[in-house]
Amino acid sequence: MDVRIFDSAERIGQEVGRLICDYVNSNPEACLGLATGMTPVPAYNYIANEYACGRVSFAKVTTFNLDEYCDLPKEHKNSFYSFMVDNLFSKIDIDLGNVNFLDGNAQDVEAESKRYAEKIKAAGGIDIQLLGIGRNGHIGFNEPSDKFTDEAFKVKLTDSTIEANSVFFDDIPMPRWAVTMGIGSIMRAKKILLVATGESKAQAIKNTIEGEVTPENPASILKQHPDATLFIDKAAASLLK
Ligand code: F6R
Repeated sequence: MDVRIFDSAERIGQEVGRLICDYVNSNPEACLGLATGMTPVPAYNYIANEYACGRVSFAKVTTFNLDEYCDLPKEHKNSFYSFMVDNLFSKIDIDLGNVNFLDGNAQDVEAESKRYAEKIKAAGGIDIQLLGIGRNGHIGFNEPSDKFTDEAFKVKLTDSTIEANSVFFDDIPMPRWAVTMGIGSIMRAKKILLVATGESKAQAIKNTIEGEVTPENPASILKQHPDATLFIDKAAASLLK
């Protein structure tokens, strides 16, 4: 696992956005795994600007998002689908037919998980997986647990996640459940880029880099990935030895 420390969230956005654009320019049919949350937004802004300047096209790219809330209509303003449309998809030339999300309203979650796994496989697997990290070390919505889960599953969100994300819900209570790609699905991506900024992520980053590999800190598994890089700012790095 490589660790790169930057002066600002904006610099991380430029670096990660540039890596993704370079990859798409040499592989126009790339398959990208995408994350929501505030941390990847500078990278999405960089990508949108590169597109606006005519320097990259996503017309043939396929994407798979990591997770989605349960019991929220797909088009609700707080769904992760809406987040991606607002922050990236509406600003680039991606074909919305090529963007994939887990269905947070699926009645049969096992069948939905199988569908997603098969679709990722049919797309040739994920080339680059972008990740954020929760204050509790979650990746996707793989919350601290006693085991790593392989494929997508339905998860009860922890108090820490609800506290962090409920600020975005002003009209309805934040959903307590979500569906997320499993650790196995994340680890099968060929390349992983994790972004973390701010002091609130410092403990999770310390545990990830200096702690043991344990499902109690889901991000720690990234140490076992052959091509994972952490892009962190000085505040997120502040507890490292
Ligand atoms: C979102 C996701 C989460 C976030 C994490 C950090 O798709 O999978 O793991 O990456 O909760 O969120 P922010 O970036 O808002 O701190």
